[in-house]
Amino acid sequence: MSLSVSLLVALLGPCLALDNGLARTPPMGWLTWERFRCNMDCVNDPDNCISENLMKAMADRLAEDGYAELGYKYVIVDDCWLNSTRDAEGRLQPDKDRFPGGMAALGDYIHGRGLLYGIYEDIGSETCAGYPGLQGHFQLDAQTFAEWGADYLKIDGCNERRADLPEDHAAFGAELAALERPIVYSCEWPFYELGPHNYTAIAATCNLWRNTHDVQDHWESVVSIARLYSLLEAEQFQFAGPGGWFDPDMLIIGDFGLTLAQSRVQMALWAIWAAPLIMSNDLRAISAEAAAILQNADVIAVDQDELGVMGRLKVQQGDDAQLWARPVLPRAGDATSCAVAAVNYGDSATELSFTPALAGCAEAAGGYRVRELYSGADGGLVQPGDTITASLPPTDALIYTLTAQ
Ligand code: GLA
Repeated sequence: MSLSVSLLVALLGPCLALDNGLARTPPMGWLTWERFRCNMDCVNDPDNCISENLMKAMADRLAEDGYAELGYKYVIVDDCWLNSTRDAEGRLQPDKDRFPGGMAALGDYIHGRGLLYGIYEDIGSETCAGYPGLQGHFQLDAQTFAEWGADYLKIDGCNERRADLPEDHAAFGAELAALERPIVYSCEWPFYELGPHNYTAIAATCNLWRNTHDVQDHWESVVSIARLYSLLEAEQFQFAGPGGWFDPDMLIIGDFGLTLAQSRVQMALWAIWAAPLIMSNDLRAISAEAAAILQNADVIAVDQDELGVMGRLKVQQGDDAQLWARPVLPRAGDATSCAVAAVNYGDSATELSFTPALAGCAEAAGGYRVRELYSGADGGLVQPGDTITASLPPTDALIYTLTAQ
């Protein structure tokens, strides 16, 4: 790391959150990885291989099927877009067969559809799939991404010494900060670090940070991520807020593994956590029911609430029922409203009762107007001590707003 970068890192850390003006609410969009992996077989599987055609097809769906206007703007290519070597000048280059127009032209296409452009790389010597990593090329690569029009970088942590993760992420972040182009910086640093984590440094460096294993296309994977989020310590939640977010990985709603009820669980949890809403699914072949969950404007509004407060676990009832809550806008006087997610991970139906006060809503003089956001059902006006009962089918969720009056 050069002296100027060390100095910058020393000046920035450890007490400031990253303030690059970006990700003031959790980023929303679409990413190749979970659904399309490292499929490079464009000969036999031309519609599903990692290619500019796949990216353009998903950009079209985001733009034309109502996603973009709800906020799903980032179109992100994950691993396996790269050529196996850098070019003669040492620059990164895409696989020429699958990205014949080049990365800048793909960015132009995405921008032309009113969307934003995301690219994957890795802070180490190679990406997880073995393509050239950023190591040794931070400045050149940051400039290359800016020239290509990137708006978002997902930076992985394979093939990197664990001890170097903090310094290298900060050094690459300093190169991004030196660009004229604002670029969201998404990190996997805490996931690869294993722990303990210096979230002060992580939040000062990255706009979002993956802290759990890769989501897979099945229910147990969503539950395992929820169990890990249930173990976050109280002081860690404060690091989430405008400009920086915990990233529990992609939404797999619309894929093969979740029922619609389980999809409601993932959407409710991600929204209550103020998590990035980055889908990885096939938007060309998604059911209307799954699309409706992803496009529920009220649930999205909870996720995107401008207070940016990450929800906390308020009730753990047995192993399988949880209540999470976060303060949200609007205010009535000094009182905020609340969003509440009631989740059942178990195979049996259950009931979960709570009061607005328990959810953190105790102050509004006029009480709270209750609404369940999946059904749209109006739950009437309640006072802070009144009981609300969520009746939860197996592996399902309800999500409420309690709007201060
Ligand atoms: C890691 C990341 C995934 C994905 C793959 C790509 O496993 O955690 O999200 O980017 O690498 O190889």
